[in-house]
Amino acid sequence: MKKEDLIIAPSILAGDFGHLADEAKKIEQAGADHIHIDIMDGHFVPNLTLGPKAVAAINRASDLFLDVHIMVYNPYDYIERLVEAGADRITFHFEATEEVEETLDYIRKCNVQAGLAFCPETSESMVTSYLDKCDLILLMTVKPGFGGQAFIEQMLQKIKFTRAALNQRGIVPRLLKESDKGSVFPIQVDGGINLETAKKCIDAGANDLVAGTYVFKEPSMKDAIQSLRNCI
Ligand code: DX5
Ligand code: ZN
Repeated sequence: MKKEDLIIAPSILAGDFGHLADEAKKIEQAGADHIHIDIMDGHFVPNLTLGPKAVAAINRASDLFLDVHIMVYNPYDYIERLVEAGADRITFHFEATEEVEETLDYIRKCNVQAGLAFCPETSESMVTSYLDKCDLILLMTVKPGFGGQAFIEQMLQKIKFTRAALNQRGIVPRLLKESDKGSVFPIQVDGGINLETAKKCIDAGANDLVAGTYVFKEPSMKDAIQSLRNCI
């Protein structure tokens, strides 16, 4: 994989919710590719976070691509509001709906990218059914719900399996806008990403890294992002 195929997406969940606009600007100035926004409903995961209004505020503050990860039941019901708020990609959970295909199709119909997320305990065999119907696969590397958890090493096998399946089928990314970059279909990892785990995930085939605690806790977010880029 080439350096330009790697996406770094700081998770604003680890930022200061009293200053979301400033945190969005900070992520942009630090040289990130995307801003990852975690939306939780208190049912699918035992935590509550942000909603469409906060996505709109972040969108006003930054020109970066907004990568919206929704950990909610009935994801279909939130698509229109998130698109209006400025989401560039909406990633929902396979485990959160019985209408996976309809939801993916509808997100794509709204002219944004459709991502599909898988919890750590979900079998890797489920991932392959949707590879040609979405724009990104998110393999959770922690149990969704909270930042600051430890990376689950067993997920490396799932990453390898997914990359092998994508390669075997020759699936390439669908680019919507000129600003979309990359020729490698995105496998995103989310949870417990730091320099050590980023390297392992990249070696296994991931090319889109979400990092919350690591990039926000380092003294310089810019250096933290650069050091993640150097993991390749
Ligand atoms: C967890 C969220 C993550 C979280 C990652 O459910 O999806 O995006 O912000 O945080 P860290 O990098 O701290 O594990
Ligand atoms: Zn997330």
